[in-house]
Amino acid sequence: MRVLFVASECVPLVKTGGLADVVGALPKALAAKGVDVRVLLPGYPGVMARVDGKKGVWQAEDVFGKRAVVRRAAVDGLDLLALDMPDYFDRDGLYVTDEGADWPDNPFRFASLSWVAAEIARDGLTDGWRPDIVHAHDWQTGLIALYLGAWGVGDVATILTIHNISYQGLCDATLRRALKLPERGFTSQGYEFYGRINFLKAGLIHSDVVTTVSPTYARELESPEFGCGLEGVLAARQERAIGILNGIDTELWDPARDAAIETFSVQSLSGRRASRKALLKAFALDGKRSGPLFGVVSRLTDQKGLDLLLGVLPEMLRADGSLVLLGSGDRRLEEAFAGAARDHADAVGVRIGYDETLAHRIYAGSDAILVPSRFEPCGLTQMYAMRYGALPVVARTGGLADTIIDANAAALGAGVATGFQFDPGSREALSNAIAKTFAVFGETSLWRKLQRNAMKHPVGWNGPAERYVDLYAETLATRRG
Ligand code: ADP
Ligand code: GLC
Repeated sequence: MRVLFVASECVPLVKTGGLADVVGALPKALAAKGVDVRVLLPGYPGVMARVDGKKGVWQAEDVFGKRAVVRRAAVDGLDLLALDMPDYFDRDGLYVTDEGADWPDNPFRFASLSWVAAEIARDGLTDGWRPDIVHAHDWQTGLIALYLGAWGVGDVATILTIHNISYQGLCDATLRRALKLPERGFTSQGYEFYGRINFLKAGLIHSDVVTTVSPTYARELESPEFGCGLEGVLAARQERAIGILNGIDTELWDPARDAAIETFSVQSLSGRRASRKALLKAFALDGKRSGPLFGVVSRLTDQKGLDLLLGVLPEMLRADGSLVLLGSGDRRLEEAFAGAARDHADAVGVRIGYDETLAHRIYAGSDAILVPSRFEPCGLTQMYAMRYGALPVVARTGGLADTIIDANAAALGAGVATGFQFDPGSREALSNAIAKTFAVFGETSLWRKLQRNAMKHPVGWNGPAERYVDLYAETLATRRG
């Protein structure tokens, strides 16, 4: 089975969020199961650096006005295809300018990615490789299935995975001719969305199968609260979105072999104590506080609910807790957290920016990791936290609900709890969950038990990859009859 992955991010080459982790890890897990996967990415600087000097395996003189070459290289266990179009992708900001505005030519940049993927699916590469299945990810790849349908390509199956429905790729309706979109599809039953073009909607309608990254998010997506205007489109599909929970790369994220930290394992946690000390030192916290050290590693956006955390910070500090936060995004949130760190320099440490090594150190050294998201399609941070023995305190939504076993009376009685859950969007609920975290932290042997449960919880890609393999086989069988 030959599968073409198409996405806009991929660890270790280019990352703004969890999409990159998934696209960097799932193909390896699929390859281990005998699937022949190649990963097509836009030729951002970090991607092109890895295919330097490689000959093209596909090319065209004019893809939306630019020359396009696809170069292939083996990179960290991935079979990488880089779409070399410097005019479109040789930029540092993936989606936005330094000032935070969308690149004006984003519709053409990601229509190019979709167009080239569709051409490869139709005709194959010059080395003879042609996919049976295109597995597309998020709005940047939404037009692939639309183009394939318009060209009448019938023997390639298409799967679209929604990692976050709140990003849809909207653009002006007048671009439809320039983007070579079929005119008859521009209706409310098609890719039109309130008078504009919607890349993700095109993908949802035209792909054979739609999946998302957790079972709970799959259900949530059908409600107006979470569906972001596309709930009706999903509900109307004959086969609704299938939820397959993400895994994490357990080699890259292994506390026993992680070069960024003092290593440890579930059998021997002394390295974890050293990691906690080192973390306090890195943030210049005094380490005298008796309560838990809470950690946050996150994009600072409304989705992540960190404004709620600002609301409960005073009581967390009064109860003798402390906080370290690594994140960037919304300027107001950045300033508010930086301000909290200035006001409470002994107990609150904040780093505004993106830092992969520091992220590992925060998972390894914090007692608990906070994820108060308003919605969370899957969430990977709570899984990294579990693997590194930091207990997740999470909102009960999406993949957070599907991965954490709340320390309620039943779970504690059965000895299976792995963290703490609370109702999303509520400051009071977050406050109660934090209070509960303090209480359990005070009972050392109970805390250790939860830590061990969390560290042993299966979070790898083996199970999810198996589900994708089955899905590929079924989808292909249906498509080819
Ligand atoms: P999302 O994709 O919505 O941002 P996920 O939990 O799925 O949320 O994935 C976030 C990923 O990005 C994790 O790997 C997390 O460690 C990483 N991350 C987020 N912010 C930062 C940051 N400032 N520095 C380093 N890593 C970060
Ligand atoms: C998106 C979601 C996140 C998910 C990630 C990987 O960025 O916001 O919840 O874990 O994709 O699927």
